[in-house]
Amino acid sequence: MGMIEVLLFGCFLTCVSADGVADVVLSCSLVEEGVGLGGMGGGAPFTRTPATLALRDVAVASDESLETLTPFVPPSNPDPDLLIFEAKVSSPAIPNADVLLHADCNEREVMCEISSYSPRGSQESSDPAYFMVSLSVEGVEFSTVLILQTVTVEKDQSTLVQNKLGLPLSQSGTLPTEVIFLVFSHIKSVSAPLRGDVLVNCGFKQLETPLSQEVGIEWRLQHRGKGRKVFEMKTWLDEAQGNTVVHEERKGSSMDAAQVVADGNVSLSLNNLKVMDEGTYICTVSLGPFHAQQVIQLHIIQPPHVSLSEEKLVLKSAQTLSCHCNKYYPLDAQMEWLYLSPSDTEPKLFPNQGSLSSHRQHGDGTFSLSSYLTVPPTVSPGTKITCRVSHIALDTPFSVSVLVESPVTDSYWWVLGFLIITVLFFYQVMR
Ligand SMILES: *[C@@H]1O[C@H](CO)[C@@H](O)[C@H](O)[C@H]1NC(C)=O
Repeated sequence: MGMIEVLLFGCFLTCVSADGVADVVLSCSLVEEGVGLGGMGGGAPFTRTPATLALRDVAVASDESLETLTPFVPPSNPDPDLLIFEAKVSSPAIPNADVLLHADCNEREVMCEISSYSPRGSQESSDPAYFMVSLSVEGVEFSTVLILQTVTVEKDQSTLVQNKLGLPLSQSGTLPTEVIFLVFSHIKSVSAPLRGDVLVNCGFKQLETPLSQEVGIEWRLQHRGKGRKVFEMKTWLDEAQGNTVVHEERKGSSMDAAQVVADGNVSLSLNNLKVMDEGTYICTVSLGPFHAQQVIQLHIIQPPHVSLSEEKLVLKSAQTLSCHCNKYYPLDAQMEWLYLSPSDTEPKLFPNQGSLSSHRQHGDGTFSLSSYLTVPPTVSPGTKITCRVSHIALDTPFSVSVLVESPVTDSYWWVLGFLIITVLFFYQVMR
């Protein structure tokens, strides 16, 4: 009962020991393919069963306040119906795992999905069993996939078997596992300017006793239903072994083989970005029979170049003013017309916002758009007319303005002409 309360009233609970490690307990779902679920019934393709993941020995920063952390209590009466995965995560450590510690206090939801995993070439229901855990935190740049391997349980008469999984449980009713491999990214999405460079982040870690010395990394790009390979590398973590094989499918893409070997850093660097580089990047790391992925969005953003058709405006009759937004990306741009008359302090929106051209797309994928405003002759001189453009690539809206001038310049010419004639007249007279 105690366990149930604990699970209902805390998204996770933590317990810190003296050496700066904590237990993080997460509410997860065990996701299974809906095989044998009424077959023809067309029910949900997946079933979800509530599960708990207790991550033991998560490294905690030393300045962590320990009082706020509540200890994880294993169930007092082990229950073979409960799904409690217990995993030691001290080695390999989950990078940035402290965001999991703070997610609850910051009211951020932790997404945690567990599914059964079969390493390549393995038999179904073999011993040990494997699980894949996908972890991410809402609104935080944290995403990790863990591969868990069950740890052998000393069996005796009292050993319980988990009802759903058919796996033996520990004395405290948990399913003991260890993290053997993980793939993570520090980012979920990244934006970069056209013709700029970007590093799409991805990394992996494995047990101290390596699962395999050979590592394969594949980067794919998925966009609008189409997929293509961007970059591929095969290398050996043990330097004594063979060479590194690289396939650079996209010109100007690279990965640092030294960083792959030293840090498991498989980040992809892309140079001279084009609109067609935009999309969903899938980083797949294969280590022996195991492989896991991360998905990172790349957005290309390019701010518009904004200009007005007129540098000054003298109204004798209605006049059309055009505002041009050139070579921006992505498509969505908002254009507004405002006016500030000499007697006002705040600009107002024109009641009639004029008309928009259709979008023009350039060879490099960028867009242009124009807005045309008919300025009535009733607009008084001294009024400032502004075209304001909002676009995702601009931190704040960009404005260009023109001042309505009185036709007074005409009388200046008249006065000047009069003066010249007068001077010429006197010049003649003096001779
Ligand atoms: C990989 O290295 C780059 C610097 O070269 C760093 O910015 C990035 O965070 C590293 N990524 C991982 C996953 O370690």
